[in-house]
Amino acid sequence: MPQSPQPKSLSAVQFARGHQLAFQGDERVRVQACNSCHGPDGVGVLHAAPYLAGQSADYIASALKSFQQGTRKNDAGELMRSVAKQLNDADVIAVSGYFAQVNLSTK
Ligand code: HEC
Repeated sequence: MPQSPQPKSLSAVQFARGHQLAFQGDERVRVQACNSCHGPDGVGVLHAAPYLAGQSADYIASALKSFQQGTRKNDAGELMRSVAKQLNDADVIAVSGYFAQVNLSTK
């Protein structure tokens, strides 16, 4: 397990799931690692994908919901919509909570 502090709202199981989605993705549900587009630990890739690290969990979760529901569709090539629709509610909570606790100042 990484040493980063965990917010109280995320259980150990949720944290592990969030970390897995961020770093490895999940082949079973055909989700690519978030970090493969969003940079190491979600720090962002200039002109390619925005940072996720340290964003509020609510913001990340609501962005994922908007991509899922198609109310946000500014993602070129539907990159994020195709990722988000593979995530269930538990995954959204886990991965949002995971990125929210990444401390950018240690990157
Ligand atoms: C194939 C590349 C790719 C993968 C994999 C990917 N993303 Fe993205 N993501 C993008 C791009 C590109 C954007 C910017 C889309 C836009 O312009 O709105 C984005 C945008 C986002 C946003 C909106 C950020 C903001 O500032 O509004 C969130 C939240 C997000 N991604 C979360 C995730 C999560 C969580 C995962 C892993 C489960 C993930 N992404 C995997 C490419 C990717």
